[in-house]
Amino acid sequence: MSAPRTLEVDLGERSYPIWIGEGLLADGARWRGVIGGTHALVVSNATVAPLYLTRVESALNGLRHASLLLPDGEAHKTLDSAGEIFASLARLGASRDATILALGGGVIGDLAGFAAACWMRGIAFVQMPTTLLAMVDSSVGGKTGVNLPAGKNLVGAFHQPRAVIADTTTLATLPAREYRAGLAEVVKYGAIADAAFLDWLQAHADALNARDAQVLGEAIERSCASKAAIVARDEHELGERALLNFGHTFGHALETVAGYGTLLHGEAVAIGMLQAARLSSLIGRAPAEDAQRLESLLRELGLPVAPPPLDSERLLAAMRLDKKNIGGRLRLILWRGIGQADIVPDVEESAIRSVLGAY
Ligand code: NAD
Ligand code: GLY
Repeated sequence: MSAPRTLEVDLGERSYPIWIGEGLLADGARWRGVIGGTHALVVSNATVAPLYLTRVESALNGLRHASLLLPDGEAHKTLDSAGEIFASLARLGASRDATILALGGGVIGDLAGFAAACWMRGIAFVQMPTTLLAMVDSSVGGKTGVNLPAGKNLVGAFHQPRAVIADTTTLATLPAREYRAGLAEVVKYGAIADAAFLDWLQAHADALNARDAQVLGEAIERSCASKAAIVARDEHELGERALLNFGHTFGHALETVAGYGTLLHGEAVAIGMLQAARLSSLIGRAPAEDAQRLESLLRELGLPVAPPPLDSERLLAAMRLDKKNIGGRLRLILWRGIGQADIVPDVEESAIRSVLGAY
């Protein structure tokens, strides 16, 4: 096995490594050292565990450990599931030195990280992402949380993991639609801050579509490097971290109004990024050709570029509930062109309506 690509999220005493490579889950010798205490709970789900749990468990010999398998799906990212994790920790006799290992996609990572933030006011956890989206986005940066009936991710905590262990062999079993949804978040890093990366993605679109191991490893590494740098500068999203939400205000509204499950998060983000790019052109902030370039890349990567038919007023109402808004005013992440995103307060609703209605 070749050495993994290694990055660090630089947060002083809470800094942690990101390892990206093939076969890492079974390579306990590399990561076992990040588990400090004597107790470990692996949290996974009914889809991922049959594929990958034994690789992780076999590295835990000598520890008191248990595994909790939750049902699959966003519908289970709830306080009830967090309660199940707490009950498992109690059965295990987990004290403050226990570690949670989150084996799965962003749903498991967010949920297990949230439980780790709460148990005895905060214990260690390790992210073991198995989706592309989780490898390039949700496992890095310490945002954890659960959904409420009133909305997504409304309850949560910033709680950084001790390590991110991204075993890229797991991506071989990821359904094609989930894989493409992860590519949308990869494109986002180029769109917001790295025009050269967007060029590189365009040049390697065929290899990405074929899940070429080398190209995919580089795409994950460059994405994680972008996110790690932003998180290191703005851990609690007081400023620049909000740029990571490019396309997300439109995207969340699409997910909400279409009904959760109709569009995957990454699909909604792809459509949302394009809407943000078109809005930027409409209000004279950015060249229209940049939106066209983004559209052609998203198409090449097999991502949707237009939403299902949805009512613009309902979409706008959903956008008004976004966490980034301040004092009832819409704050959007727009761009001045590829690689140059910024936060724009107080965008005219008439312009947003034009973009939402242009299908
Ligand atoms: P997910 O966790 O639901 O995984 C997608 C599907 O793929 C699931 O059915 C899962 O069981 C399955 N799966 C996972 N790995 C697999 C594998 N290797 N082989 C086969 N099937 C596999 O979805 P996701 O896209 O990974 O994450 C979405 C979640 O992440 C959302 O809840 C979103 O809010 C959250 N998120 C969080 C952050 C953050 O910063 N914390 C950022 C972005 C998204
Ligand atoms: N996914 C957005 C963030 O981590 O800030």
